[in-house]
Amino acid sequence: MMRCERCAALVRTRSRVVPGAGAMPATVAFVGLAPGRFGGDRTGVPFDGDRSGAMLRRMIRIAGLRRVFITNVVRCNPRDAAGRNRDPAAGEIANCRGHLRAELELARPRIVACLGKVAWRELAGRAAPFTPEAPRLATVGGMRLFAMYHPAYVIRGAYPESSYARDFARLADLVRSPAASGRAVAPD
Ligand code: URA
Repeated sequence: MMRCERCAALVRTRSRVVPGAGAMPATVAFVGLAPGRFGGDRTGVPFDGDRSGAMLRRMIRIAGLRRVFITNVVRCNPRDAAGRNRDPAAGEIANCRGHLRAELELARPRIVACLGKVAWRELAGRAAPFTPEAPRLATVGGMRLFAMYHPAYVIRGAYPESSYARDFARLADLVRSPAASGRAVAPD
């Protein structure tokens, strides 16, 4: 993974490959979009060093979640021609799919929390509606998935922070419930 060169554009713009990080086995695996240019692309750790990371980690702390694993749909920072963060292209997401699956198999989380629609579509498929305002567990392909807004959406004021904190509390309740006591991603 650390030597991956499947995406020519990302190899040109990335400072480093940013693999998932955290506890194994994990209670929850959070899956974001891609390392940010002010965050993971500099520090090598997903959701670390930028505003989205600060928001996510604060919510995790307030909810009392322990042993989490944090990763992204893609492992390299995508930039546009002006050097700004851009969404990963479909081909880049496909190229990184095996890396994401491998990480989730290693982390074996009870629940996979998808941060934003891109992560949700990647793991739940296009047919499953993305409903972060009424989050509930959806089991897809042996994984227990939970839809959530991306922290950047909350930072720009599109969703109240108090509601986001409530969603994290709900996630923490689900992690502790007997139904989630097994592992979302079965080992080989
Ligand atoms: N940092 C990440 O690692 N992922 C995101 O989606 C945003 C910021």
